[in-house]
Amino acid sequence: MTALSKVTRRRELAPGLVTIRFHNPKIARETIAGHFVNVLPRAGANDPMLRRPFSVYNTDGDEAEIIVQAHGRGTNLIASIAEGELLDVLGPLGNPWNYKSGDFNTAVLVVGGVGVASMLLLTRALLREELPVQTYYGARTKDLLALQDLKNLHLATDDGSQGFHGSVIEMLRNDLKAGLIDRPKLFVCGPTGMMRAAAQLGCEFDIPCELSLETEMACGIGICQGCPVLTDEDTFNKTGKRFRLVCVDGPSFSAEAITI
Ligand SMILES: Cc1cc2nc3c(=O)[nH]c(=O)nc-3n(C[C@H](O)[C@H](O)[C@H](O)COP(=O)(O)OP(=O)(O)OC[C@H]3O[C@@H](n4cnc5c(N)ncnc54)[C@H](O)[C@@H]3O)c2cc1C
Ligand code: FES
Repeated sequence: MTALSKVTRRRELAPGLVTIRFHNPKIARETIAGHFVNVLPRAGANDPMLRRPFSVYNTDGDEAEIIVQAHGRGTNLIASIAEGELLDVLGPLGNPWNYKSGDFNTAVLVVGGVGVASMLLLTRALLREELPVQTYYGARTKDLLALQDLKNLHLATDDGSQGFHGSVIEMLRNDLKAGLIDRPKLFVCGPTGMMRAAAQLGCEFDIPCELSLETEMACGIGICQGCPVLTDEDTFNKTGKRFRLVCVDGPSFSAEAITI
């Protein structure tokens, strides 16, 4: 399943934030919105040994694209790859977003920072199903709101440099309170604190909420047991398991089924 894939394009969106496009017909053709890939930081080298997971941001013909935010050792190495070099990629992995449940009229995409990487393919899939989409996208500052090719954007920045001044959750709460969104379902990806707040918002307004978790991973394929998420008591009773694995049972889960 792993493949050395030639990097065909590398673009810097903001300091430390890059998109990497690579040639890989299998990943490009088989990816469904919500899938991820597991990338070895240095092709052909064993240090660092563990792969790093990234949502598939885009697919186009035989090429797929990821967005990488460089912050640790592995992501710094991956983000600095040059066009023409080989990327060692495993995928597509995980389960896609569940957007066919029929329990909503409006898909509300709630995005924090680099969580935006899992939203472009979801937007396209929802539009194919002719479902209305509203995107609530927040970042620390306007330079990190690097990708605006989504649908019906509501922007928020912590420092007030663009859009709503405050958290994206606060902005969404105001709109839900005002009854501006017809029968919503939340699709959420971002930092853990933001996802927790979004899950609480779902409970508060009694609306369905799905979270795509960005937990640390090692194997990405269910072998190492290194990416557990605590299930809620009901799910525990039904399945007999206390934990589920983000890489194979997720990364997207109904907020009601897990504890984050
Ligand atoms: C499904 C999914 C999708 C994601 N999508 C994106 C995306 O689109 N863009 C993006 O920028 N980020 C994404 N992330 C987050 C990204 O994978 C992490 O930021 C990245 O793994 C951090 O790697 P690092 O080397 O920079 O950080 P470091 O902190 O240096 O390393 C963390 C990683 O190293 C491994 N690791 C380190 N120490 C240990 C240990 N003791 N035991 C086990 N493992 C260890 C783990 O695999 C861990 O993921 C996603 C994560 C997930 C799970
Ligand atoms: S990362 Fe190994 S089991 Fe999930």
